[in-house]
Amino acid sequence: MQEVGKIWMNGKLVPFKDAKVHVLTHALHYSTSIFEGIRCYNTSKSSAIFRLPEHVDRLFKSAKLYSMKMQFSKKEISDAIIKTVIASGLKECYIRPLVYYGYGTMGLTPTQNKVDVSIACWEWKMGESKAGKFSGAKCKVSSWIKIDSRSQPMQAKAASNYANAALARMEALDNGYDEAIMLNNQGKIAEGSAENIFIVKDGIIQTPPLSAGGLEGITRDSVIQVIEQNGGFVIERDLERDDLYSADEIFMTGTAAEVKSVTQIDKVKIGSGKMGKITQALQKSFSDVTLGKDERFLSWLTFV
Ligand SMILES: Cc1ncc(COP(=O)(O)O)c(C=O)c1O
Repeated sequence: MQEVGKIWMNGKLVPFKDAKVHVLTHALHYSTSIFEGIRCYNTSKSSAIFRLPEHVDRLFKSAKLYSMKMQFSKKEISDAIIKTVIASGLKECYIRPLVYYGYGTMGLTPTQNKVDVSIACWEWKMGESKAGKFSGAKCKVSSWIKIDSRSQPMQAKAASNYANAALARMEALDNGYDEAIMLNNQGKIAEGSAENIFIVKDGIIQTPPLSAGGLEGITRDSVIQVIEQNGGFVIERDLERDDLYSADEIFMTGTAAEVKSVTQIDKVKIGSGKMGKITQALQKSFSDVTLGKDERFLSWLTFV
């Protein structure tokens, strides 16, 4: 990681290398933190943060689900994100707001501890993403089952959800794949380790409903809106593993991944084994949106 700019901690911008927490910080021991992943794009006008209000809303929703008392308002967090991006000097970057139960009492109950907030950003070059973005990712259906909301609130973007996701990702990489796809406890497709998933079959774009256990992705929502504005539609339905193998095209969506093509699942080639036409067109449409080239979606950009 390249250390650039400053990190916002509880209201102050501190030098990158000084943004430290105590080793007895509650979240380090018990995973009691929630976070966001946001992108800032270098548009022809200026840098612009993609769907900032929606990300801040989700951050607060996650905090609420963990009974975290935020010491900042949504407006203060949004302003702090903009300030941190400006302080980074980066034209495009990844932004990571983090809310966590901090240092105080040590024990399982976090609620007596202060809720700390930090915002960091780091360089994220255009087009840079995990393996397979352009060539098509090879995915493994994970042997790890996606945890579900009977155990913890899955609509919270919480650190504790990601131990499960990280195990799936590590298993996929160890087996020579680029990414994992997770099934829920019913054996239906939930999502990737950090992306939502869509399939295309006979020209019809389909995605699992949120009740299948995937995160309510902001890119998922964006892509659905773009498809609809372009005259198309997306069907939400439970997908089986066989739906993946027999799909003509598969793509994943996420802040980091944007629109990522999937060309192989387990040992099965998807469609022609190359990125499909619908995925390719959507990648272009989505990129136009994030770069401010599509007038219809300019309201999704917060120019800094
Ligand atoms: C588990 C999971 N699902 C889906 C997504 C996609 O969400 P978004 O498009 O809001 O980045 C992410 C990334 O944040 C994720 O971590």
